[in-house]
Amino acid sequence: MTKDNRPRKLTTLSIRERKQSKEKIAALTAYDYVTAKLLDASGVDIILVGDSLSNVFQGNTTTLPVTIDEMIYHTKAVQKGVQRALLVTDMPFLSYQVTVEDAVRNCGRVMKETQADAVKLEGGTAIIDVIKRVTDIGIPVMGHLGLTPQSINVFGTYKVRGTDADEQKRIIDDAQRLEEAGVFSLVLEKIPADLAKQVTGRVSIPTIGIGAGPDCDGQILVINDMLGLSEEFRPRFIRRYAELGKTIRDCVTQYVKDVRTAAFPDKNESY
Ligand code: KIV
Repeated sequence: MTKDNRPRKLTTLSIRERKQSKEKIAALTAYDYVTAKLLDASGVDIILVGDSLSNVFQGNTTTLPVTIDEMIYHTKAVQKGVQRALLVTDMPFLSYQVTVEDAVRNCGRVMKETQADAVKLEGGTAIIDVIKRVTDIGIPVMGHLGLTPQSINVFGTYKVRGTDADEQKRIIDDAQRLEEAGVFSLVLEKIPADLAKQVTGRVSIPTIGIGAGPDCDGQILVINDMLGLSEEFRPRFIRRYAELGKTIRDCVTQYVKDVRTAAFPDKNESY
């Protein structure tokens, strides 16, 4: 806590230090103010405004359609709910892959307009120059390897990545190159637990797994998935801590019934 009784804000440095202290990093996504406030008050270390909002908020089938303006809109809302957690926001598809100059301008704009603490960029070797330049000008970058959803049209499947020796080697090499380029942490998505363990052992930045087994330095889940709001989406790596989809449907069904039967509002709920 600080002198004025606010929780001490986590920084990219305090997140990096978790590698040595071995205190696991708990991360979740959020897309709105209310959820961000609840997560922050519950002790989540990193809140990511993921471009997964394209799927779980906007109803798209991939993360590709989401725009920089939309990421900024959601990140500004989330930022208002965050006191302690490190706030990271995803740079959307095509906002950092065209030229280094483009990437610097877009990452800079997102940092300026949202007050996020860092950005997350997907990919390895192909974006090393971008990461170097963006970190050089003072913008912390979280990396993301493995199943990188912005490349779904190249993969053609959401299956586990890094199952053959070539891709395993590429992921390990990319992780080391990302560290050299300056990322402060690295998301590993949907890769075998053994491979995630190897990557985690070879880099001195924290790895944050999603579907990457227990040996990463931290874990992240999409909030809608872990609360059971994405009812049909049930891959094995998601632990569902609630069934809020069912809870909401039950509440709304009861409300509709109460209105139709004039059971709501009653005398105490009226003036
Ligand atoms: O967009 C997202 O929510 C993510 C996490 C799944 C890591 O990238």
